[in-house]
Amino acid sequence: MRVIVDKLSFAYDDKIVLNNLSFSLVSGDFLSVIGRNGTGKSTLAKCMLKLLKIPDKKIFLDDVDINKLKKLFNIGYVPQKSEFNYEFPISVKELLLCAYPKRKDAFFTQIINDLDLNVIYNDNINNLSGGQLQRVFIARALLCNPKMLVLDEPTVGVDQENIEAMYKILSKLKSEGITIILITHDPVFCKDLSTYTLILDDLGFFSFEKGCKTYD
Ligand SMILES: Nc1ncnc2c1ncn2[C@@H]1O[C@H](COP(=O)(O)OP(=O)(O)OP(=O)(O)O)[C@@H](O)[C@H]1O
Ligand SMILES: [Mg+2]
Repeated sequence: MRVIVDKLSFAYDDKIVLNNLSFSLVSGDFLSVIGRNGTGKSTLAKCMLKLLKIPDKKIFLDDVDINKLKKLFNIGYVPQKSEFNYEFPISVKELLLCAYPKRKDAFFTQIINDLDLNVIYNDNINNLSGGQLQRVFIARALLCNPKMLVLDEPTVGVDQENIEAMYKILSKLKSEGITIILITHDPVFCKDLSTYTLILDDLGFFSFEKGCKTYD
C-alpha cells in the first residue's frame, strides 16, 4: 500500500504532539517509529487509523484521502497493550473468527500455528497472560489480509521465542510487499527490518534516522 503523510500536525487541546510531519511509503517499506514515552507515537498510529480526527488531505492511502474513506480495508492494527480491553467476554477463537470467519482454511491455520495459539484457542481473552493476548491481537491483524500493518509496541511482554517468530512473520510480510509501520523500543526490530526510522521528540519535533522520502 502506498502511504503519504503530508504536513500532518496534531494537538490535544493546546498540546502539540505532531508538527508538520511528512513521509511517504510504498509497498514493502518498513517504517520504524521510535521515541521516548509521550512523544506521539501512538497518536500518529491513531491518526493513520482514523481513530483521531485530522484535517482533510493530510494522510493518503493508495492516493485516497483517508477522510474520504468510510471504512478502512486491508489494514491490520495491533494497538498498544495498555489500550486493550481485557474485560471483554470473548474467547480467542471468537475474536479471531470475527476478523476471519473461514476458520478451516490453510491461511487461518498457518497464522494460528505461527503465533502458537493452539493451546489457548478456546480460552477467554481475560484469562490470558499479557504476552499471549498480544499474540492474539497480532494474529487478528494478520487475518485482515493487510496491505498495511500498524503495530504499536507489539513485542512488549512477549517472550523471546515468540519475538523471534514475530520477527520472521514481519520479514515475510515485508518481502510480500506489505507496508509496515512499527512503533517499538526494540532495537533489533528497528535495525534489521526497517527501511526508514522516524524518531519522534517532544513538542512535535522529529527526525529520520534512515532518511525517508517526503511527498512533493
Ligand atoms: N486522549 C488524550 N488526551 C489528551 N492528551 C493525550 C491523549 N492521548 C495522549 N495524550 C498526550 O499526548 C502525548 C503523546 O501521547 P502518545 O500516547 O501518542 O505517546 P507515545 O509516544 O505513544 O508514548 P508511549 O511510549 O508511552 O506509548 C502525551 O503527552 C500524552 O499525554
Ligand atoms: Mg504509545
